[in-house]
Amino acid sequence: MVRQPTKDDRFSFGLWTVGWTGIDPFGSATRPSLDPWEYSEKLAELGAWGITFHDNDVFPFDADEQTRRRITGQLKDAADKAGLVIEMVTTNTFTHPVFKDGGLTSNDRGVRRFGLRKVLSAVDLAAEMGASTFVMWGGREGAEYDSSKNLFAALQRYKEGLDTVAGYIKSQGYDLRIGLEPKPNEPRGDIFLPTAGHALALIAELEHGDIVGLNPETGHEQMANLNYTHALAQALFSGKLFHIDLNGQKGLKYDQDLVFGHGDLLSAFFTVDLLENGFPGSPDGPRYTGPKHFDYKPSRTEYFEGVWKSAAANMATYLQLAEKARAFRADDRVQEAMRYSGVADLAQPTLAPGETVADLLTATDDFDLDAAAERDYGFVQLHQLAVEHLIG
Ligand code: GCO
Ligand code: MN
Ligand code: MN
Repeated sequence: MVRQPTKDDRFSFGLWTVGWTGIDPFGSATRPSLDPWEYSEKLAELGAWGITFHDNDVFPFDADEQTRRRITGQLKDAADKAGLVIEMVTTNTFTHPVFKDGGLTSNDRGVRRFGLRKVLSAVDLAAEMGASTFVMWGGREGAEYDSSKNLFAALQRYKEGLDTVAGYIKSQGYDLRIGLEPKPNEPRGDIFLPTAGHALALIAELEHGDIVGLNPETGHEQMANLNYTHALAQALFSGKLFHIDLNGQKGLKYDQDLVFGHGDLLSAFFTVDLLENGFPGSPDGPRYTGPKHFDYKPSRTEYFEGVWKSAAANMATYLQLAEKARAFRADDRVQEAMRYSGVADLAQPTLAPGETVADLLTATDDFDLDAAAERDYGFVQLHQLAVEHLIG
């Protein structure tokens, strides 16, 4: 039996996850919606440490200032009472029809100015709620038709928007960092910043890129047929893994947002292995220290019992994988297999300290070309040991 999650595990959930009522493009809601504080209380009961939300998960798009204050105040009180941290707040710039061509990259300048004001007001809210991360998922920033966009200008406007928001955070002295969330498609046919790599490249062009990083989601990388663990690694390498969205996805199809581990379980194992144990052979390598945030959807076949069970399943699966990943690393057979495979050897620089290119070109290494060509790396056996731990 897997142990119960505790606050020390730092698991968090979006209110829109358990709060999804099952509306999809083909069907209406299959469950009623509760008040935001009811979801929070239930998540706390299940062992969650934190919650996250979009502005409009909590108050309506057209709410006046007073209503907005009342509802967010009530949520903050409920969270405090339940001992929950509001660790991330984000903006919804995708539901309202005004955002049908995006919020920061719409062809309509009036929409862009309106969108930017909405984002900035959500930044104020995030600071007020004590959040440390402000996620920006640009689901409507994109296109269906290549003819419809000046793609160069779209990237300029994306950069302008992000720098405006990041600059505002700094000018207000907020203790907030932005996490960009890449996704290849859905709802737009082609979303801008489709993968972690694209987002990192844009961040490198920003004026205020120091407080802009990534919030990679398992399913989003996998929808692009990419390896989520590699995306996390690349973000860590760049010092940009600010936040994560864990969930499950089965291959190349619509965004499933399944429970973590309910997609590619073996990939989930190595995601947890990296998060919990770090890079093998690089004990001083970069580590992710943020919350373990789940962004999943309880399938629309489930009613409330199933909603709570599915929320608990995310945490249970993570904890079980963490235990197995620890046992995997500690296993003598695994350590021997890793030695055989040369896993730790990759951490050794290819050039010796102080060695120049000229030195390298003239060096007479006692390198045996034939032996190296015939080397058996044993990767399959090493991987089989992971499978054994996972199944065992
Ligand atoms: C998705 C995304 C979104 C974002 C969320 C936070 O499934 O496409 O997960 O849910 O994470 O909007 O901004
Ligand atoms: Mn998703
Ligand atoms: Mn997400």
